[in-house]
Amino acid sequence: MHLPAILALLGILLLPSPALAESGPDADRRAALETLLYQDCGSCHGMTLRGGLGPALPRDRMQALSPEALAHIILHGIPGTAMPGWKALLSEAEARWIADHLQTDSRLKTLEQD
Ligand code: HEC
Repeated sequence: MHLPAILALLGILLLPSPALAESGPDADRRAALETLLYQDCGSCHGMTLRGGLGPALPRDRMQALSPEALAHIILHGIPGTAMPGWKALLSEAEARWIADHLQTDSRLKTLEQD
């Protein structure tokens, strides 16, 4: 194979794959995001998300918001309140992952949960 052909092939292999970019954070990053949610977000919303300085974030309440709205709140915060934006630390896909986690998978299903 000619050198230019090898370089072209390498270029293709090294191009970021759109499929990968859309599949969201990998397992390590997901674990880090979960830690961020229960510790950093938890510092205001409570380590069990039952509320503190910020309101409780139970799954049923989170499902009242669209995933887009939730991700927007996470990235940009709520102006005029203590809720900060996280866009310096999180990508759009990561904010969407946290939004999805809050709606479907978080440890607090409802406020009535034991
Ligand atoms: C410095 C404290 C603080 C931190 C840290 C914080 N929040 Fe908040 N958050 C708030 C406050 C206060 C509100 C309520 C703002 C208002 O009055 O509407 C809020 C509101 C929210 C809401 C809207 C809740 C609702 O019922 O409408 C969501 C969702 C949310 N935060 C998610 C997060 C997530 C996810 C993180 C971590 C990435 C986070 N917050 C970190 C203080 C915080």
